Amino acid sequence: MSLSPTVIQSAYLVAAVLFILGLRNLSSPKTAVRGNQLAATGMLIAIVATLVNGAIVSYTVIIAGIVVGSLIGAVLAMRIEMTSMPEMVALLNGFGGAASAFVASAELLGAQETGAELAGIVPFAIAASVLIGSVTLTGSLVAFAKLKELVGGAAVTYPGQQFVNGALGIAVLGLAGMLMADTGNVTAFYGVVGISLLLGVLLVIPIGGADMPVVISLLNSYSGLAACATGFVLDNSTLVVSGSLVGASGLILTQIMCVAMNRSLGNVLFGAFGAASEEGAAAAAGGQDQGNVVSYTPEDAAVIFSNAQSVIVVPGYGMAVAQAQHAVRELTDTLAESGIDVKFAIHPVAGRMPGHMNVLLAEADVPYDRLVEMDEINPHFPETDVALVLGANDVVNPSAREEKGSPIYGMPILNVDLAEHVFVIKRSMNPGFAGIQNPLFFKDNTMMIFGDAKKVVISLAEAVRNY
Ligand code: TAP
Repeated sequence: MSLSPTVIQSAYLVAAVLFILGLRNLSSPKTAVRGNQLAATGMLIAIVATLVNGAIVSYTVIIAGIVVGSLIGAVLAMRIEMTSMPEMVALLNGFGGAASAFVASAELLGAQETGAELAGIVPFAIAASVLIGSVTLTGSLVAFAKLKELVGGAAVTYPGQQFVNGALGIAVLGLAGMLMADTGNVTAFYGVVGISLLLGVLLVIPIGGADMPVVISLLNSYSGLAACATGFVLDNSTLVVSGSLVGASGLILTQIMCVAMNRSLGNVLFGAFGAASEEGAAAAAGGQDQGNVVSYTPEDAAVIFSNAQSVIVVPGYGMAVAQAQHAVRELTDTLAESGIDVKFAIHPVAGRMPGHMNVLLAEADVPYDRLVEMDEINPHFPETDVALVLGANDVVNPSAREEKGSPIYGMPILNVDLAEHVFVIKRSMNPGFAGIQNPLFFKDNTMMIFGDAKKVVISLAEAVRNY
């Protein structure tokens, strides 16, 4: 079946509009499901339009690819833990980059075989797609291995590292230039592929595990740019549009995360933060001289909770690990039913991926109007009776506000220490992701409740009901 180019292009236009509307709707939890549906519908239209546009060489290969790929994707998506989602996204980005590089390479090698001329922007687009796609592939695999702890998460540094990376960067750009000048230059093509694959590894190893979510977001942006370049290779407008959207949104997300950690992108990419945080962890392990820690049982805490008028819950990575979101919904429902004002304070980088807390709380049906962003809720802590820190650590560390030498100094935090009473639920005195100790735990108004977040919250809810 083959439709007229006007119909195909119109379908691509509709798909592009749906992608943009989808992204727009994804910016709020209330409309996010609709956003996903709109974008998925756009993707379906784009795929169907591509399949019927008459340029398909073999439907058999495509159908086999769809069946095998869908099976693997569905099994992976169903088996993946929510806390491991960044690893999965890293893999998907890498495969996306590889797919773009493969398609562009096939166009180039096919033209070399048939002697067809590649004109206009195509040689540039092929070089860009192969280069960016290959860097994305190996960079994402290293990010995956670091997050999955298949290799150490620490930053790997050596003398002259930036010089080596710079020299390889110049070499690969030179080879890409040669390939653009002469698309029949096989040596230049394989040179671009080889050095780009190597660069992907070398650019990511000096970045510590703590910064992997930012790197993954940046690689997501790269995979979009590679897809966009491939769109020019194939003269496919919907691939150009969707690739640009992924490229731009990945870059914006990267920037949001950097701002939320008060770090520049350069510092994330070249600052070897993982190495610094290991030193911090060592210091934290020995840092027992910060004062006394007060430990409460859930039953003791229930007295203060029951007499409070306002409670702000601050969820963090520990809530995700313990899967405590349903238990905390029940606790906060109980508190709200007895007339206590309950809010959730959401830090932009709480957890391990953007929107991590929003997703978990939405899954537990916590009403959206109880979720308040950091800038909006911070002025309310001083007038709040109880702040409940649930498996959060770095995002409530007052060192970020007060200690100039701290690795996280300047990072915006939730000012829980300004509340009248602070309860912190965690299993031990171990530091958070940044590997540094938290003076909040030693403050006079802080009470620790040690234990798994889910178990403690269930006991606390029961104690509040019985009080
Ligand atoms: P963290 O600082 O990582 O602290 C999480 C705390 O949860 C730990 O101190 C841990 O203490 C506790 N915990 C773990 N399992 C638990 C369980 N089953 N029950 C109770 N507590 C448990 O988390 P955060 O405050 O959410 O901060 C996020 C960190 O990730 C920040 O450093 C941020 O910069 C970084 N990061 C996030 C992102 C995104 S996009 N979210 C991106 C880049 C970097 P115990 O071991 O003592 O229990």
